Parts: sequence; C-alpha cells; structure tokens
Amino acid sequence: MNIQLGHEALVHSKKQLASGTYLHNAWYVAAWSQDIAPGKLLGITILKEPVVIYRMADGKLAALEDRCAHRFAPLSMGAIVGGDKIQCPYHGLEYDTSGMCTLNPHGNKHIPPRARVRSYPVTEKHKAIWIWMGDKPADHSKIPDFGVMDNQPELHTTKLDKIMVKANYELVIDNLLDLSHTSYLHAGILGNQDTVESEINVDQDGEDIVVSRYARAGEPPGMNKLMWPDVPSKVDKFTRIRWMAPSTLRLVTGVCRPGETPEQGSGYHAIHLLTPENDGSTHYWFTAVRFGVFSKGDELNRQIQEKVAATRRFAFEEQDAPVIEAQQRIIDNSQTAVDPLILAIDVGPVRYKQVLKRLIAAEQAP
Ligand code: FES
Ligand SMILES: [Fe+2]
Repeated sequence: MNIQLGHEALVHSKKQLASGTYLHNAWYVAAWSQDIAPGKLLGITILKEPVVIYRMADGKLAALEDRCAHRFAPLSMGAIVGGDKIQCPYHGLEYDTSGMCTLNPHGNKHIPPRARVRSYPVTEKHKAIWIWMGDKPADHSKIPDFGVMDNQPELHTTKLDKIMVKANYELVIDNLLDLSHTSYLHAGILGNQDTVESEINVDQDGEDIVVSRYARAGEPPGMNKLMWPDVPSKVDKFTRIRWMAPSTLRLVTGVCRPGETPEQGSGYHAIHLLTPENDGSTHYWFTAVRFGVFSKGDELNRQIQEKVAATRRFAFEEQDAPVIEAQQRIIDNSQTAVDPLILAIDVGPVRYKQVLKRLIAAEQAP
C-alpha cells in the first residue's frame, strides 16, 4: 500500500513530537547476547524500570526488577547464589527467578508475602537479548525479524556496538526514518549532494512502516567506496528502511551500476535497535551485515569490517547524537508549543507515529 497523507493527518502529527509514552506489551532489546557472560549481573533501566538480567546455571536468561523489596538496593550489585538465585548486596535476602524471596537470613527467618520483586520474560534471538515489559503473556511471534543477523560469515558482520543518546527515542526513530539527513549531516560518508534528489516511497506492511529512497547515477558516498574498492564513478544508490514497532529498524542500503538491480549491487543491512531508558534517554545498539561483497581476501575484508564499524559509530555518535540531543534540549526548554514544520521527507516519521500511537492507545484502553 502506497501512502498519501491528508492535511488532517499532518496536522494531527504535529502534536505527537517526542510524546514520552511507551508500548509495554512488546519486546525491547536489553543487550547483545555476548554482553551477558555467565556469572554477570547486568543492571539496566528500560522504560524507566530498573531491571537486572543474568544467566542461570544452564545458560538461560532471567530478568528481575532491580530493586530489592526491603530497602530498594539494586540486586545487580549483589551476587548469583546457588546457580539461579540473586542475593541482595545489602542485607542478604535471596530471590529466585520468579522474583519470590526464598531466604530471609534474619530473625525467625519468616518471609513476608511482600518480599518479592517483579520478573520479566526474557529471551535471546538474532544475537540480542529481548525483554517483554508488559503484563500480558509474552508473544514470541512479535520479536522483530532480524534474521539477516543469523548465520553470516564472521567477517561480514561489524562490531556489535552501542551508544547512549540523551534524547527521547522518538527523535532517534525520526532521524532513521528520514534518511535525507545523510546528504547533510553525514555528507561524504553516508550521503552526498547526489543523493538529495531521491525518489521516496512510503509503504505500510502490516504494522511496519517502510521508507525507500532511490537516487540515480550519482557519485557513490564514502562508505560505498570503502566497501566496493573498484566501485564505478556513477552508481544508483538505494536505501530501504523498515520500522518495526515499537522501536527497532532494519535498513538495506547500497549502490549498484546504473540501471542494475539492488540485488546486483553491494551494500549492507544496517541494524538499529532502540530501547527507551526514560523519556529523555535512549539505548542505541547497532551493527551492519554486508551483502554483495566484491572485496576479495580475509585481510582486506577484516580492514573493511573495522573501518565500516568505526565510520558508522562516528556518524551516529559524533554527527547524529549531538544534533538529536540538541533538539531534545530545545524542545525541553521551549516556552511555546512545539509544532514542527512537516516536509515531504517526513511522511515516514509521521506514519510510524500514527501506528505507534494507535498501538499504545489500544494497550491503554480499559
Ligand atoms: S535492601 Fe535488600 S536485603 Fe535489605
Ligand atoms: Fe544519521
């Protein structure tokens, strides 16, 4: 379905900037799988809730509220005991993976009924750890599809990386669903003046929003030259980014000889995994998986792997994040209603906000 937005929808969208509300019955990324080693307690705040995640003796994951029922010490500062339980660091209460207190070492050792913390469904898929933040039963079919991460040659996947962005997660999604900014903010690296003029298409696929851009016969941006050492001087550049509720995005981007299809070209799947820490801070995990790898030899491909990872981190951390964080500060300090001008490039951001708002409203309906 190709989307045309009416005046009504555009006006409505202006009220939805960085709303600070969350969809709870959904999967959010909490870490890369590799980041939780056996014996480690990972404390992280997700949707303003403190959570501790760890591996049980069999390697499977458990996730609990990271706040002891006694005096609110973070359990993530404690220790794993007896294989599967957490001991609070402060006065030694122990909790099992369901969140029930199973040991009170004090007094007559009675365990009051209130001695419990919340537990969360947690699972691993596509090299990431996913946590379900809602009260409804966890629906594993709703884990966003990042199958492009699976079973890839090690040299074709870049570092599994992460930064924090001190801004609302919607501002980060807005950034990613409107890639016209690559011609300005990332000029020379991810875009250039030849990619400003692009054909833009926005489609809805179920609840996903897909934004495609196609720029014909232009100079390849630096990233594409890096990945395809003898890339032609004129190429078609394609980007196709898919937002999957509530806050992950999968991009396929690259270049091909003018007139050829993207499948004949060279590029990468860009993985963007966003999780709100709170209303003004976002966890941002990212990596890239190459396709159409024309560069030959492990040594060269290892160099490309490292340069692509470093370049993308630079683009997100040194170019995107400062602008997004400044936007957040300006919005926070605004003395008047925030009412953004909507351009043709904003159809993707407007559409995903409509879907997200509908999902949140449905969840909050009595
Ligand atoms: S705060 Fe955890 S046992 Fe006291
Ligand atoms: Fe960017």
